[in-house]
Amino acid sequence: MKGDIGVIGLAVMGQNLILNMNDHGYKVVAHNRTAEKVDEFLQGPAKGTNIVGAYSLQELVDKLESPRKIMLMVRAGDVVDSFIDKLVPLLDKGDIIIDGGNTNFPDTNRRVAALKEKGIHFIGSGVSGGEEGARFGPSIMPGGSPEAWPFVKPIFQAISAKTENDEPCCDWVGNDGAGHFVKMVHNGIEYGDMQLITEAYQFMKDGLGMTHDEMQSVFIEWNKTELNSYLVEITSDILGYKDTDGEPLVEKILDTAGQKGTGKWTGINALDMGIPLTLITESVFARCLSSLKDQRVEAEELFGKKESIVEGDKQVWIEALRQALLASKIISYAQGFMLMREASNENGWDLNYGNVALMWRGGCIIRSAFLSNIRDAYDIDPELSFLGSDSYFKGILENSMFAWRKVAAKSMEVGIPMPSMTSALTFLDGYTTARLPANLLQAQRDYFGAHTYERVDKPKGEFFHTNWTGKGGDVSSTTYNS
Ligand code: 6PG
Repeated sequence: MKGDIGVIGLAVMGQNLILNMNDHGYKVVAHNRTAEKVDEFLQGPAKGTNIVGAYSLQELVDKLESPRKIMLMVRAGDVVDSFIDKLVPLLDKGDIIIDGGNTNFPDTNRRVAALKEKGIHFIGSGVSGGEEGARFGPSIMPGGSPEAWPFVKPIFQAISAKTENDEPCCDWVGNDGAGHFVKMVHNGIEYGDMQLITEAYQFMKDGLGMTHDEMQSVFIEWNKTELNSYLVEITSDILGYKDTDGEPLVEKILDTAGQKGTGKWTGINALDMGIPLTLITESVFARCLSSLKDQRVEAEELFGKKESIVEGDKQVWIEALRQALLASKIISYAQGFMLMREASNENGWDLNYGNVALMWRGGCIIRSAFLSNIRDAYDIDPELSFLGSDSYFKGILENSMFAWRKVAAKSMEVGIPMPSMTSALTFLDGYTTARLPANLLQAQRDYFGAHTYERVDKPKGEFFHTNWTGKGGDVSSTTYNS
């Protein structure tokens, strides 16, 4: 009997996905560039299973049922192209290559198109949930050649996480790089969620002077509210974790955040598409700022250490903080969905936002109860342009407003940096202001560069130029917008 699917790349994610597929009754052929890895896997975790090894790409191809499905679980970038180049001559028309890495979606666009010319179908799929997700049920976000989906669907939906109603956290996202785009936005939102949590932690620790056990209890309580999520849950575990000397391990960890690039790509795409994705982008910058450790140490010395004590009833502050976190989280997701909407329009992907929320409901790093409410919001209005306008979310934003402003103002007053929570509030203030000061900005542009402006008392699309000083000419510059 031939294999149902081949997987290339036996690092931890690859191995765990294979074991997961095996658990669901699929026969998997496993290959790795270094042959010893195949042996180690077969004699180790794969021992006693139906998994078979392949020591060359030819052997892998020969051992697979047609149309062949070959999933690459290798490092994103050139390695993917190099495997594709080696595989293509060995494959038949109609065979399917799947890239399950964190690939930047323009690469997937390119690969789908290039392989289509050769009659090979290509799927670029986001896979989220880390090692454990891969082993027991990840969130899977596939996109690419739609012809390939019916062949891959049963396997992917079987191995994916399931919602509380037993729906698979995996569905077809859209053409080209849509799957990798949605995974990129997932990661951007992951950056935002993590940053918001860390801001709440710093407010509690430095502002309210709370102990780690106290903070752990707060996160445990928050996890029973609308904030219920994987990231809040692991935060309570982390805060309670003690090092060998009995002290909280988290305080011994160097405060410089790493990043592999997906959050940055999300911000770059937002800038390219003109979407105000402020919260995620602030979260990326917060990681960049954290990495300037030596400079920060020097600057603290230079400017003097801030006294950031927050006075007042601790319990009242904690509840205010919870509301500020929840409201900011709504803004983050609202912005992320705005970005997906724009990308969907620009690329003709026809994204189903309710389905995206469903795919993120389980298995992935940002999984949370909250995503069920997002799904409901898009069920009610599939064209919802701003998540915060949905009645459920609007209600939370309105009810949290007082507490949110209090936390934001206090953080500014005492000098606790909360870039994501405060920028989320600023975004909402801007988004809900019918008239912003951009009229003055347009006047400035016209003043110094004859860039023209539109008038409130004339139809849109009619451009005017004023000779503001009497010295400039009446000739206007072109009016294109980037
Ligand atoms: C997931 C994660 C994963 C990502 C890590 C690290 O969905 O399972 O998003 O894909 O690689 O979270 O990302 P950073 O190194 O950029 O923080």
